[in-house]
Formats: sequence, structure tokens, C-alpha cells
Amino acid sequence: MSFRLQPTPPARPNRCQLFGPGSNTKLFAKMAASAADVINLDLEDSVSPSDKDSARANVIEAINTIDWNTKTLSVRINSLDTPYWYRDVVDVLEQAGDRLDQIMIPKVGNAADIYAVDALVTAIETAKGRTKRINFEVIIESAAGLVNVNEIAASSPRMVAMSLGAADYAASMGMQTTGIGGTQDNYYMLHGDTRHYSDPWHLAQTAIVAACRTHGILPVDGPFGDFSDDEGYRAQSRRSATLGMVGKWAIHPKQIGLANEVFTPSAEAVAEAREILAAMAQATANGEGATVYKGRLVDIASIKQAEVIVRQSELIAG
Ligand code: COA
Ligand code: MG
Repeated sequence: MSFRLQPTPPARPNRCQLFGPGSNTKLFAKMAASAADVINLDLEDSVSPSDKDSARANVIEAINTIDWNTKTLSVRINSLDTPYWYRDVVDVLEQAGDRLDQIMIPKVGNAADIYAVDALVTAIETAKGRTKRINFEVIIESAAGLVNVNEIAASSPRMVAMSLGAADYAASMGMQTTGIGGTQDNYYMLHGDTRHYSDPWHLAQTAIVAACRTHGILPVDGPFGDFSDDEGYRAQSRRSATLGMVGKWAIHPKQIGLANEVFTPSAEAVAEAREILAAMAQATANGEGATVYKGRLVDIASIKQAEVIVRQSELIAG
């Protein structure tokens, strides 16, 4: 328990974050026309080292010239262990206009990583007279990132979102996996002859959700590599939504509709949440702290659970 109120995260839809390589200019207009809430123009791992400079120039031009409508617009910079990241920050912030909302910092290991980027961003904003503050989103995708997830979430007032990057996380942890996210063939319990598959991402996801909720930032599930597996993507997304994440990445346009479907509360779920709120309003009017709804207990905690669903649906509708 704490007397401190949990801060509310940014009030914006974040059901799907669509990625595209900064080197693939053909995709930019398609990304802008998509149904994704957030666009991530990538300068990092989908861009080969020989294309880093041209991708940076492409991304700056795209920010300045394409109509991104109401989307949250983000650029994923290179990680701090590369020679590219400072030039990403300097060129993008000096040359891209105010349409840019945030930058994504990958492979974050501790709060000092954010401090370093914050210092550079702050200096450029001041020098260039940028009036709109650039926000940060980060990827937790290493052992250090997981161990230090709470200090990373608390590291800067610019922090708005945090994603789990399954592939780099698995590699850093020494996990014996190959697929990007989802079910892993060797991660099962045996009961008799029946295999019961477990979720190897559960601990990292829950740690990210807890750190995000403590500090008022949005927890997001990262990529799912097999874009021909719709049911696998849905199942992964449903687990993430159940654990408190607000959205998931798309690395192919096929995945956008799936993310929007899972992370938009269904009409039935919203109707049920409203009924629970009405039942509890009646109970409160009767001087009761608990009541029965469809044969099950609902109490004051149920109000908060129901409000999460109603608030999410209103946010998306609005
Ligand atoms: N955003 C918008 N449109 C995209 C897209 C994306 N990320 N990826 C593909 N498309 C478009 C294609 O241009 C094509 O359009 P068309 O019908 O007008 O020709 C259509 O969707 C179908 O594409 P498809 O042929 O199935 O895929 P592809 O072989 O062209 O590309 C990938 C496959 C995986 C290389 C590509 O989707 C991609 O680059 N994804 C993003 C990777 C990335 O950013 N990774 C970093 C985060 S992990
Ligand atoms: Mg990564």
C-alpha cells in the first residue's frame, strides 16, 4: 500500500506500433495511411550499416513532408553501444520539425543511458528553440534492462512508453530460442503424455508492466516475427493485454488489424464493465461495499477493474 496515487499514463491510443526500415522509402506513405496508432521509423536493426546515413536523411525528409495525420510519430535511434546514435539524435532533432513526437531508444540497460540521451536532446532543443518537448520510449531487451527496469521507468520526465524486445532479450538472457516472441517449442510442462506450453515472456512482461504502471508510462509488447501466423500473434497479444499491456508492435501491415482487434476492448467487455459499475453504484446507494453480478462477487476493487476497460474504450473512441 502507498498513500501516493498511481500516476496516469499518457491518454493516447497505443494499440499498434508499426515499424518500417528508414532505408525503405516506399513504405512511408503506406505507413502513414495505415490504421496503426503509432509509427516507428527505424534507424536501428532493420537498416544495414552501409545505409545508416541515407536512412537518417530519408526519415528526416519523411517527418517533414508526409502527412502523418493524428498518429504518434517516433524514430527508433541506434543503441548507445554503436557509433551511430549521437548522429541520429543530432540530425533528427536539428533537421526534423515539430511533427516528431518521440524517439525510441533501444537496448536500454540502466537509467544513465536515458540520462545521456536526455542531456543531448535537452541541449539541442534549447539551442534550436524547439518548443515541443520530445518524448522517449524505450525497449527493454537485455538482462540489464530487465534487472534495472524500474530505474529506467523513473529515469526522465520524457518517458512515455516501454516495449519488450523479445529477440534481443532472449539472446541477452542466453535463452535457447530462435523465433521472435510467441510460444517456444521446448518450453512446456509434461502431465502424463500431454504437453502444456508455458509463456517464457511472462516474467519480463510483468516486470515491465509493474515498472510502467508505477511511473505512469505505457507498457507495450514488442515484435512477433512470424507474420504468417495470425493466431499466434492473436494469442501473444491476448496474453499481453491480460497482463496489462496496451498494445503491440506490427512488423508487417497484416499485424495492424490483429493488434487493433485485441487491444480495443470488445463491445461485450465494455457493456459488462458498465453493468458492473451500475451494479456497484446501486450497492453503494444501498450502503453495501459488495454485491453479486451474474452469480459472482463484485466489490470496490471490481469498480477499478471495470474502469480500466471503460477508460480504454473511451480513449480509443475519442
Ligand atoms: N509498413 C507498411 N507497409 C508495408 C510494410 C510496413 N512495415 N511492410 C510491407 N508493407 C507493404 C508492402 O510494401 C506491400 O505493399 P503493396 O501491396 O503495395 O506492394 C504489402 O505491404 C505486402 O508486403 P509483403 O510483400 O508481404 O512484404 P515484403 O516482402 O515487402 O516485406 C518485410 C516484408 C518484413 C521485409 C517488411 O514488412 C518490413 O520491412 N517490415 C518492417 C521491419 C522492421 O521495421 N523491423 C524493425 C522492427 S523489429
Ligand atoms: Mg532489438
